[in-house]
Amino acid sequence: MKKSLFITFEGIDGSGKSTIAKLVYEELNKKGYDLILSREPGGVKIAEDIRAIILDRKNTNLDDRTEALLFASSRRQHLVEKILPALNEGKIVLCDRYIDSSLAYQGAGKGLGIDNVLNINLFATENKLPDLTILFDLEPEDGLGRINKSKVREVNRLDLEKLSFYHKCRNAYLELAKRYDDRYKIVDASKDINTVLKETLEIIINKIEEN
Ligand code: TYD
Repeated sequence: MKKSLFITFEGIDGSGKSTIAKLVYEELNKKGYDLILSREPGGVKIAEDIRAIILDRKNTNLDDRTEALLFASSRRQHLVEKILPALNEGKIVLCDRYIDSSLAYQGAGKGLGIDNVLNINLFATENKLPDLTILFDLEPEDGLGRINKSKVREVNRLDLEKLSFYHKCRNAYLELAKRYDDRYKIVDASKDINTVLKETLEIIINKIEEN
């Protein structure tokens, strides 16, 4: 029987994790692995509807706890409708952002407390944590520099937060990597894209082989 694997990609905005996730997906697909690539809300109607409320620039009075709860709700729906069925079929699931994004952004960035946000997310996911989380680590200044250069990516409400916000998120990610050192791997995202891709593939293939 094939063994499923749940792998998440994390990092601050501009870290390049979405680009790397797509390239990793293509490479592993070529090698014949049975896998899917998703990102919250992942085309799941209810999750999309919830996410639209969060990202709507008009919702300037969205309360921080409301935001954290909405991310957790959207995550739940995506998990139940898309991730769990794929894992149950023995697939490898690559997911661009998951629980750790809320811990870093809402828990640390917005100051709600990592453990408070962890609690609502453990409820939302019934304790479903990834088997492997790859953190694309980058200085926030470099991340923002990359975002401002790219015209393709739409700037959303959360992008408008201050640089100090991203510093808090990055520090939280590094703290989480220590706390969950059994599932975390850190990749230096300041390196060139080919090096980042190569290192990421190595980490994933090692994990698949030991699985
Ligand atoms: P996303 O659509 O994944 O964009 P990106 O391509 O930058 O990863 O996320 C949009 C924004 O939402 C991004 O700034 C990160 C933020 N976010 C949170 O604050 N909490 C969360 O739980 C998630 C999933 C995302």
